Amino acid sequence: MLEEAIRMKGMTSAIFSQVDELRKQADAIGKDVITLSIGSPDLAPAPHIIAALKEGIENTNNYGYTLSKGVSAFLEAVAAWYDRKFGVILDPETEVHSLMGSQDGLAHIALCLVNPGDVVLVPDPGYPIFSAGPLAANAELYRMPLIAANNYLPDLDAIPLDVLRRAKIMILNYPNNPLAAIAPSEFFQKVIDFAKRHHILVCHDFAYSELVFDDYRPDSILSFPGAKDVAIEFHSLSKTYSMAGCRAGFVVGNAKAIELLGRIKSNFDYGIFYPVQMAAIAALRGPDDCVRQTAALYQRRRDIIVDGLMAAGWKVPRPKASMYIWAPVPTKQLSFDFVVDLVNEAGVAVIPGVGFGACGEGYVRFALVQPEERLRLAVERITKWLG
Ligand SMILES: Cc1ncc(COP(=O)(O)O)c(C=O)c1O
Repeated sequence: MLEEAIRMKGMTSAIFSQVDELRKQADAIGKDVITLSIGSPDLAPAPHIIAALKEGIENTNNYGYTLSKGVSAFLEAVAAWYDRKFGVILDPETEVHSLMGSQDGLAHIALCLVNPGDVVLVPDPGYPIFSAGPLAANAELYRMPLIAANNYLPDLDAIPLDVLRRAKIMILNYPNNPLAAIAPSEFFQKVIDFAKRHHILVCHDFAYSELVFDDYRPDSILSFPGAKDVAIEFHSLSKTYSMAGCRAGFVVGNAKAIELLGRIKSNFDYGIFYPVQMAAIAALRGPDDCVRQTAALYQRRRDIIVDGLMAAGWKVPRPKASMYIWAPVPTKQLSFDFVVDLVNEAGVAVIPGVGFGACGEGYVRFALVQPEERLRLAVERITKWLG
């Protein structure tokens, strides 16, 4: 009989699977469920991205291993993109590394820095890999509560000193999944000073940097003085360019951390399929209107859900970024029980907030991954159901 390793105990996708199971059961009895649970984009990449991928695939020289670092043209395209978007100058040789999606880097970074007894500071609620990666490295987790009263920012001063003495990494993510929260500029400067004082590497997940609304522009943590001494930033092409299955991402910033992650990756994998790198280069170097259109589309979806729920008497915040709505449970139920009823009775599937950590209890997350007419139908069903 196989017995799972101890590290597996903390790695569970139970709530996500349970919601999917509910949806499947409803499907099986012929009930239509509008799925707003998993955050997988339903959009296609722009034609120039697909054209680059096609061209790459047709060249039979492109089927060998690539180095995990990424080809020079990719690393240079990332550096140029960072300069254009955030005014941050990067050395493509030492401060940029390719990833098979940002998940790849987030999963492995703790392995580079954590020894037994070391701590990783993670947001609660948080995107699951923030905890699963460090757990795979046998790290101890310290969960930083992100609550509405603190604008969903961690209270750095509340982290105990004995934890800080053992902390090696802090993981942050703004614009945030699942909270759809954003961080003000002064927060990042505070984080950098804090990380310097306590010798912590800040890992900022910036996957939603481009899914921003109402003229809001987020800051790269690397645009603040001293950031490269203590921070790296993870990026994804999955959401910005709707390439989620076409795995491409990158990490930038502190050269030592990039070198360590690169060393782990060069042992673990052989890099991104070259045609995918060509598609990523086309995306990063290409015209920006596809990105603006994607953001505008998510903004319209946001407004359909927010306006609709507000009209139904369900008070939800209108986020400035991301592809999620973080909504307080409008009944007295626990978030999971509420979701069971929402799926079975209203035919709408969302994720219970507790699936992202204990501090997510009391909330649910809507992912804006259905076309506008389906979202309108979801609002209609919820309005009728809430009565
Ligand atoms: C906050 C956050 N980080 C990382 C990822 C993973 O993205 P990628 O497809 O680049 O691995 C996601 C995907 O949903 C996410 O929401």
